[in-house]
Amino acid sequence: MSFSVVQERQILMSIFAIVAKWILPMNDIIALIEKETGLAIDRKWRRRILTLLREKAAEKKFVSIPSYADFLHSSQGHNALLALIDSITVGETYFFRNQKSWKAFDEHILPRVFAQAQGNGRNIKIWSAGCSTGEEAYSIAISLSKHDLPLMEQGVSILATDINCRSLAKAEAGLYRDHSFRGGDPAVREKFFTRENDQYRIQNNIRKLVSFNRLNLNCSSDFPQEYHDVDVIFCRNVLMYFGTETCRNIVQKISACLAQDGYLVLGHVEGAMASRDVFTPVKCHGTFVYQKRTKPREKPVQCIKKDRKPVFQKERVCIPAQPCIHQEQTSQKSPYHKAFQCYLKEEYQTALDYFDACLSLEKRGSKELILQALIQLHLGQYAAVETCLAVVSARTVLTPEVYMVKALYQEALKDLISAVKEGRAAAFADRNFFAPQFYLALFSDRLGKRVQAKKYYANSLRNMEKDTDERIRLFVGAVSNELLRSICERRVQS
Ligand SMILES: C[S@@+](CC[C@H](N)C(=O)[O-])C[C@H]1O[C@@H](n2cnc3c(N)ncnc32)[C@H](O)[C@@H]1O
Repeated sequence: MSFSVVQERQILMSIFAIVAKWILPMNDIIALIEKETGLAIDRKWRRRILTLLREKAAEKKFVSIPSYADFLHSSQGHNALLALIDSITVGETYFFRNQKSWKAFDEHILPRVFAQAQGNGRNIKIWSAGCSTGEEAYSIAISLSKHDLPLMEQGVSILATDINCRSLAKAEAGLYRDHSFRGGDPAVREKFFTRENDQYRIQNNIRKLVSFNRLNLNCSSDFPQEYHDVDVIFCRNVLMYFGTETCRNIVQKISACLAQDGYLVLGHVEGAMASRDVFTPVKCHGTFVYQKRTKPREKPVQCIKKDRKPVFQKERVCIPAQPCIHQEQTSQKSPYHKAFQCYLKEEYQTALDYFDACLSLEKRGSKELILQALIQLHLGQYAAVETCLAVVSARTVLTPEVYMVKALYQEALKDLISAVKEGRAAAFADRNFFAPQFYLALFSDRLGKRVQAKKYYANSLRNMEKDTDERIRLFVGAVSNELLRSICERRVQS
């Protein structure tokens, strides 16, 4: 089909009109949200926001998007901007999310913090920064109360903050559905909550330990005085949504708020954001927490001894293997697809239920078994992980994904050296595979091997372009490529 010059000009004019009427003002609003919150909004997220913006503009009876954009920029529009931010932030959370962090908090951090507080007669202060609907802050309060200490005498305060007013109101109410307890110990719900119809309300003795407040971590000034001298700061699954510069500033301000020897607890992929000049990574219970340094940097500390022999020690990779997560699409109705979606939302038990309900073990292909192994790894069902991997290995040639799951398995067993070996096998088996490069970078960082870590971060950046989106998500979860890229770039440059 060919167009005349006049037709071409008309098409161009229509495109310009659309850009001027919709795209520029929409981009302008997104830039405003990014400036206010510090969030780095990626392409997928942007698409969701655009739909929301159209709805909100219509709801507020704005005839055009440019006039809605002008309103949001004005002082009268500030509350509307905050409400818009409430609608776009990702508030995914649940009680005792990531069991390893809670074990580290319970068994490593708390005894030290209590001992120190008793020694110097200070009150204990713990801060959940980016608390969403409050599950993390109440998990802190429950953990404290389980220590059976005279909390009020000890003078404990738990501060919980978020930018999202709607989430904070929900946190204040302390009323939760089943979903907030997923994967947790049912005894906790029994003991610390009271049933109200189909929901559960946090008991008052726990409720009153926590105070919720709105605080924008991306504010230009230092955090208020009440957030200073904090013993432990939880800032989990928050930093990963920020841009590089914002993240650096926030970590700096957070570290200024920590008391001497205080601890920072981060999400699984956020460890690289804690500068090694300011924090010492402390390994415990298969995870890392970050202790504020009082002296110049030292080597990583290992606080827990290995308590189990690695099981995959003998087998070594010697031939390039076949990837089992291919480019081809899986049907949206398949149990794999449904389980995968739940897995990305960290609904591990539901993900497993899909498999159990829809597919007998014999019918599960390598792809399903790899996903199942990862789900069971997250649930701490290690024997089942071994079974899944054994079935895949028996059926097919060696797959790079099997080595990668083994690497994560060894990491879960606190054996970082074996994790590195398995990760290298995965990287060797498929040179375009993103996950081994990324995890080898994280492992090397934790082992204090900066030069190696940098090399792996650089490889991760290269492989991000080569690997499939599905396989990247399978091993890193819902973290977007943009955020992964920003983590890797920052670590390559640091
Ligand atoms: C995924 S939730 C994390 C909840 C909890 N920390 C956890 O790990 O389960 C991220 C939270 O960060 C909050 N957040 C995003 N930008 C923020 C900002 N600039 N200041 C404070 N909180 C922010 C969001 O509103 C959201 O509630």
